[in-house]
Amino acid sequence: MMQQLQETTSYLQHRIGSFAPEFGIILGTGLGALVNDIEVEYSISYAEIPNFPVSTVESHSGKLIFGRLAERPVVVMQGRFHYYEGYSMEQVVFPVRVMKLLGVKKLFVSNAAGGLNPAFNTSDLMVITDHINLQPSNPLIGKNLDELGPRFPDMSDVYNEELIRQAMVIAEDADFDLREGVYVSVPGPMLETPAEYKYLSIIGADAVGMSTVPEVIAARHMGMPVFAVSVITDMCTPDRIKKVVLADILEAAAIAEPRMTRLIKELVRIQ
Ligand code: HPA
Repeated sequence: MMQQLQETTSYLQHRIGSFAPEFGIILGTGLGALVNDIEVEYSISYAEIPNFPVSTVESHSGKLIFGRLAERPVVVMQGRFHYYEGYSMEQVVFPVRVMKLLGVKKLFVSNAAGGLNPAFNTSDLMVITDHINLQPSNPLIGKNLDELGPRFPDMSDVYNEELIRQAMVIAEDADFDLREGVYVSVPGPMLETPAEYKYLSIIGADAVGMSTVPEVIAARHMGMPVFAVSVITDMCTPDRIKKVVLADILEAAAIAEPRMTRLIKELVRIQ
C-alpha cells in the first residue's frame, strides 16, 4: 500500500512540478461549482492517475484539480469514491492519503445528506461536529500503516473546533443559517426505510449520508485537521419523508451551492 501511495504521489508531483497544495477539498454530490472559483493550474482525470480508482457515479466527474482558491494552493477532488460502488475502504481513502503525502495540511469535505433533525430544512447547510460510523468496515482495518499514523487513533475530537468556530463566524457575516450536528454514515446505496430513519435519529444523528466518514477516519489517522459540511437534500422525519429522486437531491444541493462555495472559499482564505 505504501509503495502504491508513493508511486501515485511521485506521478502527481511530476505532473504539478513545484505546485504545493496546502489544502485538500472533497466535493460531494452536486457541489462541483466550487471548481468555478478555482484558478486551475492542473486538472488531471482520475483515469490518468496510477492506482487511482475511477468514479462510477454519473453525478461525479472524476478529476483531481490543482489550483488556487482565494489565492491559496488547493487540491480538489471533483468526485469521490463510495463504498457502495464496490471499492474497498482502502480505495475509497486512497486519494486522501495521497493528499497528505503531497503536503496537504487541512482537509475540507462536503456531502449531501438526509435531514433527521426536525429543526432542519431542505437545502440547509450543516457543519459536522461529530459522526457515527455505520459503514460495514473502515479504512484502518488490516496491518497498520505506521508511516501514516498510529494503530489506535484517537477519535475524541475529529472535527476541528477552530475551523467550526471560523465557519460559524463566516455564516453569520454572510447572513445565512449554519446548522451543526452529528452525521451518520451508512453504506447505501438504497435510501433508508422510515424505521431506519427513526433508528438513526434515536442513536443521535442529525443527518445521514453514504460518504465522508471513511475519508475523515483516514485523515485523522494521519493527524490532518478536518472540516466537513453537509447539504441537507431531503428531510427524513416521519412527517416529511418523501420518495427520494436523484434529481430532487441534486436540485436541493444546487440551491445550497452558493452558500457552500462561499463558506469553503472564505474558510480557506483565512487559514
Ligand atoms: N439517506 C442517505 N443518504 C442520503 C440521503 C438520505 O436520506 N439524502 C442524501 N444522501
